[in-house]
Amino acid sequence: MKKLALRLRQEAVILVLAVLIAVLAWIEGANVAVVLAILAVVAVAALLRSPLVGPVKVSAAPEPPAADPHSVLQPMVAPLAALDMPLLVVDQDAAVVYQNPASERAMDSFPPGAHLSAKLRSPGILDMVRETIATRVPNQIEHSERLPSERVYIVRISPIDLPSANATGQSFFLLSFRDISELRHIDRMRSDFVANASHELRTPLASLRGFIETIQGPARNDPKAQERFLAIMFDQATRMSRLVDDLLSLSRLELKSHIAPDQKVDLVPLLGHVRDSLLPLAGDLDVTITLDMPQSKVEVTGDRDELVQVFENLMENACKYGQEGKRVDVSLRNVPGQAVEVTVSDSGGGIPAEHVPRLTERFYRVSVENSRSKKGTGLGLAIVKHILTRHRARLIVKSEVGRGTDFTVRF
Ligand SMILES: Nc1ncnc2c1ncn2[C@@H]1O[C@H](COP(=O)(O)OP(=O)(O)OP(=O)(O)O)[C@@H](O)[C@H]1O
Ligand SMILES: [Mg+2]
Repeated sequence: MKKLALRLRQEAVILVLAVLIAVLAWIEGANVAVVLAILAVVAVAALLRSPLVGPVKVSAAPEPPAADPHSVLQPMVAPLAALDMPLLVVDQDAAVVYQNPASERAMDSFPPGAHLSAKLRSPGILDMVRETIATRVPNQIEHSERLPSERVYIVRISPIDLPSANATGQSFFLLSFRDISELRHIDRMRSDFVANASHELRTPLASLRGFIETIQGPARNDPKAQERFLAIMFDQATRMSRLVDDLLSLSRLELKSHIAPDQKVDLVPLLGHVRDSLLPLAGDLDVTITLDMPQSKVEVTGDRDELVQVFENLMENACKYGQEGKRVDVSLRNVPGQAVEVTVSDSGGGIPAEHVPRLTERFYRVSVENSRSKKGTGLGLAIVKHILTRHRARLIVKSEVGRGTDFTVRF
């Protein structure tokens, strides 16, 4: 019905003309039946022919075709790909339109045109992205991940001002991931270090103050007690100065860690000297130190005093912590064509495997009580590691609980 009405409206001119002609013909005395027949033929022919003018489609002004995001972003791709910071470009719908290789490594590849949430589940990041897309104001948040490894990122989003994109009404946003895990780690180490150092100093200081108060007060007239307390105070003061010496030694080593030593040092007399200096301690602990060395010189490039410090600490540790094995064996190997190696072995209780990788951290001790009771500060192996790093040498630790420990220095 609608169609017929439409056709009638479209052919109105022809139909009205035909009716007019028919009326005139009838007035002029033409046969009514013939006039009506001709009128019917004209009307049917007019309605059946295809219209000259089709319905005019009314449409809004044509939109400029949306440019392919890849071609708009093309000039940016090479510089973004060259950066080793993970970067993503998203469009106004938060769909990922570009991902640089660093971000593919950090978070896998996004399927083409996928929404950001396909790989990034953090509600904090998604909220921030939504807000920046709406307001075009740059923003950043801190985001931490536990898996596959603990990492902390500063995630930043900011609009990209691209004239070619603005012209087509598109907008793009750059999402960058700055990895600050290393910085955080250093920060934590620094604050742990300060906390540990002050803690180590606080204990002997508190005990010194306590004894001074006792000597000034209750023990004022008790020379015997005073003598006993003064001996303990002397021990505590010695412990503090040892700690300060170790800390200074560490910071000096850090300062020159990049300068390799250049003296020639013969390890044969050096190891003999270190053993001799430790004989009183070994005697007290009832430990024998044996030396197995070639007759000839074994020279390495190094700093004599620093190497003395290394072997003193290794032999002292072996005596103190491997005491129950009763012996410490020091061997020097110099096989032609191979690295010079010094091994300090004890047959003591050994070190559980989970502690071995952390032994060279500052203040790290397997048992704090055991180490303190042996006047240890937990800095010895940290100093050893620093010295060996400067000497481009390695420290290899092999330990078996119940069998003993081997510390090997490989030059
Ligand atoms: N030969 C060893 N056998 C068993 N445990 C060891 C041995 N050598 C080191 N350790 C463990 O490693 C820890 C760290 O040693 P390190 O030499 O750094 O510190 P320390 O001996 O306690 O103190 P410092 O050397 O400053 O006097 C020790 O506290 C001890 O628990
Ligand atoms: Mg030590």
